[in-house]
Formats: sequence, structure tokens, C-alpha cells
Amino acid sequence: MTDTSPLGCVVSDGVAAQPVLMFDSGIGGLTVLREARVLMPGRRFVYVADDAAFPYGAWEEPALKDHILSLFAGLLERYRPSISVIACNTASTLVIDALRQAFPGHPFVGTVPAIKPAAERTRSGIVSVLATPGTVRRQYTRDLIETWARKCHVRLVGSDRLAGLAEAYMRDGFVDEEAVRAEIAPCFIERDGASTDIVVLACTHYPFLVNRMRKTAPWPVDWIDPAEAIARRAVSLLDGLEAGRAHEALPGERNDVAVFTSGKAGFATRRLMQGFGLTVT
Ligand code: DGL
Repeated sequence: MTDTSPLGCVVSDGVAAQPVLMFDSGIGGLTVLREARVLMPGRRFVYVADDAAFPYGAWEEPALKDHILSLFAGLLERYRPSISVIACNTASTLVIDALRQAFPGHPFVGTVPAIKPAAERTRSGIVSVLATPGTVRRQYTRDLIETWARKCHVRLVGSDRLAGLAEAYMRDGFVDEEAVRAEIAPCFIERDGASTDIVVLACTHYPFLVNRMRKTAPWPVDWIDPAEAIARRAVSLLDGLEAGRAHEALPGERNDVAVFTSGKAGFATRRLMQGFGLTVT
């Protein structure tokens, strides 16, 4: 059975017909989308940027939670995705459990600070978590440290500016390197003759700036970007859900779309999305 969806895409009973919904407050989730597309070339994606509410990092928790829950009710109804990937640490650390409770039939993949792999990999025992002020404040983040990194010294660094700098960089191609240097500086600490050797990029926007971070860092460190791990988690979840069901043939055209909640994506944004193979609806 086939039908035409409001997106103008062919919808059928096959498993590839249902898109994967990728969600962020802005363009940061594209760092996860690019990995997901490599691992799932036959999937359709709907990328949702809640730009009307950007930046999430500055929101009060109860208001942001209500906002995301009500937004998702509409998104699930409209796009009927197979799974949703919350490609945003600031959202996941606040609302992933509430989303699973509110929409029990729908699978969600979350994005939370990669504190466990950092604790496993560090040699110096000093790790920094670079995130939005919201993610740094979350109990979820504190619990991750308590559970996985008790033996490490973990510094939480909340940045007010980096997500916005990454947005501007991706749209305009320019970033103020001195601003990047200032934002990452608190990540670098020395104690008892040891120094930070890992910085966890705990905001999906930050991998876009990692080359500038490398350039302006006071010494070399490992920068952990969890995008590939998140994409792999989505693949294994989908494989489990679809075991035994027939796959659709690859569509000739992908028809992947990007949705901006403000409804006001400008020329630079549309061009950026086009570069990622997305058409702004
Ligand atoms: N990309 C988001 C994250 O991973 C947050 C950016 C923001 O809205 O402040 O945390």
C-alpha cells in the first residue's frame, strides 16, 4: 500500500518509508545526522531544528521540559517517524525520560555527555566536560559523573557562547578565534603535576568548531565527539525493531527534509541544509 505524505514523499508499509527524526535546538544535530547517513544510507531523515527556542542552554528546566514535550506531540503526529534521535545534550539530559514516559510506544535515542568513555580513556585522570550552562546544571550530568567517573577529577565547563558561535560559523564561514579560545580556556587545568587530557564535547554544536578548538587550546588533548556512537545506537535500535520485516528498496531521491520551528530559515541556512542534503520545508 502506498500513499503520499504531507511531505510529498512516498509512504508505504515498508520499514524504510518511516523517517528517522533527528532533533536539536539548532544546527548541532547535523553533526549526528552526517554520521547517521553514513551508517544508514537507505533511510529517510527529517531534521527538526527548534530554532524558535534556541538556545536551549539558557532555558529554565520546567519551561523547557514542557516546551519539548508539547512540541514532540505535534512532531510525532505529523511525521510518524520510526525512531527519534534527540541529538541535543541540553534536551536529552532534561527530558529523555519524560519523552519515553509520555510516548511509550515510540523509541527515542538520547545524547548525553560522554563521561563514561572519557573516564575509561583518560591517563592523567583529569577530564573536562564542555557543555551548555543547562547541561552543566543537570542532575543527570552529575549522576553520570558519580556513576562512571568517581575516580577522576571532572571539571564541568558551561559555555554561554559556543553554540551560537558554531551556528554563525556554519552559516557565515567565520568564527572569532579569540572567543573560542576564551570559552575553552577553563577546560585546561593542571593539578599535582598532571593536566587535562580529555575534553568531552557535550553539545552537538561543538564538533563544528573542533579544529578551532585544537588551534587555540593551550596543549593537545583528545576531544570526544559522541556523534558516531549515537548513530550506531540508532542503527542497533532500528535493527532490533525491524528484525524480520522487509526493507524497502532505496528511493531514487532521498527527500530528506529540514524543519525549522521558527518557519524563518534564511538563505544561508537553506544553503547549509542543502549542503547536508536536506530541503527546508
Ligand atoms: N546542541 C545542543 C546540545 O547538544 C544545545 C545548544 C543550545 O541550544 O544551547 O546541547
